[in-house]
Amino acid sequence: MKFSLSIIAALAVTQSAHGFAGMNMNQASSSNVNTDISRRESFANVASIIGGVAGVGVASAFPSLASAFPSDETPRVISRMGGLLERYGDTQRGLSLLVPSGWNKFEGEVGAYDLKWQDLVDPKENIKISSTPVKSTTTSINALGDDVQALGQKLAAKRDAKLMKAEERLTDSILFYTFEFAINDGTHQILCLCVHKGKIWSLDANTTEKRWSKRDEMYNNVAGSFIPKL
Ligand SMILES: *[C@@H]1O[C@H](CO)[C@@H](O)[C@H](O)[C@H]1NC(C)=O
Repeated sequence: MKFSLSIIAALAVTQSAHGFAGMNMNQASSSNVNTDISRRESFANVASIIGGVAGVGVASAFPSLASAFPSDETPRVISRMGGLLERYGDTQRGLSLLVPSGWNKFEGEVGAYDLKWQDLVDPKENIKISSTPVKSTTTSINALGDDVQALGQKLAAKRDAKLMKAEERLTDSILFYTFEFAINDGTHQILCLCVHKGKIWSLDANTTEKRWSKRDEMYNNVAGSFIPKL
């Protein structure tokens, strides 16, 4: 379900009046609370995401916004697809995700990526995680914008790619933007972005256009399993 921005904005004001707007995202974890509470916490979290902007003045800040924000949680993907995927948890970096079983793993190349997994046969099939520090107060909205379609088009232009999909979701109270690109060099890519704990996180998964139909479900599950916290 989606709520219009004006409702969320109104909620942000209400919530901040009750002191929820500055709530720590970690506290908003919804894994073991009932649906009612989890929904309320989602609201509080979205309120805190847009809180900085709403503080400026709801009426003037959102005069023409047509977009809506997800209000319900999309559960983290946990399916291992019958063994095709295996869980990778990294306590040092504070992240976890499902990765293709048996792929080669590479650790951090400064400026390029934090972690990379690569198919044993075809190096063009790879998944990588990168992070960029931002101010601790930065949210997905003020780092990436509030219009997932517009951001997708901008990223597609940068990549010389066609934008195939642009979606947003709230998972474990973190706002994720997910894109699918058909790049002109014959690469098909899933890109997942979010901001959490003072970092912009990016997960991208590449394959060739030829192999995309075989990787589609798996890559979307990898992206849907990624969470930059433990
Ligand atoms: C994924 O594909 C794009 C487009 O070819 C390329 O720029 C990028 O470096 C690739 N990523 C990796 C990790 O090879």
